[in-house]
Parts: sequence; C-alpha cells; structure tokens
Amino acid sequence: MSTSSPNTTPSKSRAKLAGISATAVLLALGIPYFYNVAPPQLVSLVSDLPVPSYLPSFFRNATTTTLKEPDNAFYCDPTHSYKTQLVSVDPLIIYIHNLITPPEISALLETAEPLFAPSQVTKGGRQQKTSDRTSSSAGLPREDPAVKCVLARARHFLGTMIRDGWDEMGPPQLVRYTAGQRFNVHHDWFDTPRWAPDGSDRKWNRVASFFGILQDNCTGGETHFPFAKPIAPPSPLGEQGRVAGWWREHEDGGLAFRPVAGNAIFWINLHANGTGDLRTNHAGLPLEDGLKTAMNIWPRHYYAAD
Ligand SMILES: *[C@@H]1O[C@H](CO)[C@@H](O)[C@H](O)[C@H]1NC(C)=O
Ligand SMILES: *[C@@H]1O[C@H](CO)[C@@H](O)[C@H](O)[C@H]1NC(C)=O
Ligand SMILES: *[C@@H]1O[C@H](CO)[C@@H](O)[C@H](O)[C@H]1NC(C)=O
Repeated sequence: MSTSSPNTTPSKSRAKLAGISATAVLLALGIPYFYNVAPPQLVSLVSDLPVPSYLPSFFRNATTTTLKEPDNAFYCDPTHSYKTQLVSVDPLIIYIHNLITPPEISALLETAEPLFAPSQVTKGGRQQKTSDRTSSSAGLPREDPAVKCVLARARHFLGTMIRDGWDEMGPPQLVRYTAGQRFNVHHDWFDTPRWAPDGSDRKWNRVASFFGILQDNCTGGETHFPFAKPIAPPSPLGEQGRVAGWWREHEDGGLAFRPVAGNAIFWINLHANGTGDLRTNHAGLPLEDGLKTAMNIWPRHYYAAD
C-alpha cells in the first residue's frame, strides 16, 4: 500500500488539520503492519532500497525483483544444482537428489498451507473422492515465485521433451499424507487424452511425472512401483544397499522409494505411441505416523488435432 492510496489521503489531510503525524493516524486507524515499525524506518519502503525482513510478505512482494540478496523474500537461486541417478531404464525412472531447496520448500508450504483439501481422482473422466486416495491436496498458483522457480528447474531438466509454445508444464499440486493415509496403486496418465483447456482441438496427456518430497517426517509412506525393475540385479559380490537406501527392492516385487525431503522421483508415463505404460503404476504406501508432503509436477504432451 502506498501513502497515495485513496484510503490514506483523506486521513493525511485530517491529520495535518489536527496537527498529528500521518504515521500516528495510520496507527490510530489500526493498520496492522505499522504496529512494529518505528516512524524513522518507514523511509525504507522506497522501492529501490532493501526491504527490511520484519515487514510482512505483502509489503515485500513488489520489490523482490529489484533485490539481489533479500533477507527474507523468496529468491530463486540460479546456481542451484541437483544430482541425478538412473534407477530404471525401461520404463525410465530417475532419482533426483536436491531438486527442491529448503527455502523453496518453506515458500511452497507457506503458499499451499491454506489450500489443502481432500484429494480427488479422475474416474470415468470425472473428478471424485475415493477411498483409494485418502490424502489431501493443494493446487499451487503458478505465478507464485517459488512455484515458478521449481517449475523452471523441472522444465530445464526435460530439455527438448517439452516443445516451447506447444507443450506445457501443467498445474503443479502438493499432496499431503498423515498417519494411515495412502494412495492405492494407480497411474498418473489419463486413459484417454484430455481436450486442451484453451478450447482448441488439441489433446494432451501427462507424459511424465516428478514426485518431489517437501516434508518427510514420517515412518512408512514409501512410493512403490510394483512393476519396475532396477537397472541391474543385485551384485554377485553380495553388495548391500546399492544406492544408500534411497530406494529398495520391495518384498512384494518392484521398487520402493523412501520419502526424503528435497529429493524427487522422475519417470516417463507414456510409450512412444502415446499409450500409457502400465509399468509406471505406483502406490503411496500408508504412513504409520508423521507427515509426508510432496509436490506433483505433470508435464503435458500435446497432440496435433487429427
Ligand atoms: C504477495 O505474494 C503472496 C504470495 O505470492 C500473495 O498471496 C499476496 O497476495 C501478495 N500480496 C500482494 C499485496 O501482492
Ligand atoms: C504402444 O506401444 C507399446 C510399447 O511398445 C505396445 O506395448 C502397445 O501395444 C502399443 N499400443 C498401440 C495401440 O499401438
Ligand atoms: C515429527 O513427527 C513426530 C511424530 O509424528 C513429532 O513428534 C515431531 O515433533 C515431528 N518433528 C518435526 C521436526 O516436525
């Protein structure tokens, strides 16, 4: 809010009449963010000066782009790097270490916290609640700086798989599991491609999935791919814990990934001919206790109109 907004101008004139400072009037009007701010510090609200970290976020938004090293405003670090590890080649499954940074996790959670609602699934083309999926979900606003930052990183990872101006990253979502909650075996792609939301006669499907963990304070809650196989069988030399416990071969078959905050699983959902790859079917195993929060990113591959 600037001092020239319609609300404050009349108050200021009245303040002059009464011989009181504008700040005092704003305080008297009960505008909350002035309570902690001593009058001399108000000068730092000028947009090209660093914005103090004690100001609430709505004051910091406008100036974020002008700041190089903000104290508290979200900052997308262009030097951030992650590490990838091949887990399965067919279907392609890649484990990504440190895809999402701790500041990004905090910012994403802060944005999403008020937006969580019971998760739904698409069945017969319709969104509905189901006992197969007992988690809660929050759609993320794509204009949010932290969301943009993570999506840009995921976009870069995909390289030429996403054709600029044709395909898109799709709306990201957070999903949260607490004790006893789960997501039974399912796939992320749609059985039939969906119409483009822009009303054009193009269709799309979820060509790949990123499943990034934001909060991992839980026991249980592995992501289980019952039909996936590791690249190589266990070593004849009796090698243990091939990837230091990020994933394991599940006793019922397939691969199970432990939730680790900051890390992500990436996989390709569709065959080259556009049909879904059933070997990417996976489940969110039940949590015994604690909390697991993850970010879904579902890049959309668009098909030309028939
Ligand atoms: C500041 O940013 C947050 C998160 O992006 C948003 O919810 C809020 O409305 C913004 N405030 C203003 C004043 O733009
Ligand atoms: C699509 O490709 C997969 C994998 O090669 C194959 O199993 C499937 O039968 C194909 N489906 C169609 C409709 O061509
Ligand atoms: C993790 O979860 C346990 C039990 O659910 C709780 O007692 C503990 O405070 C949590 N720790 C953090 C850092 O959230």
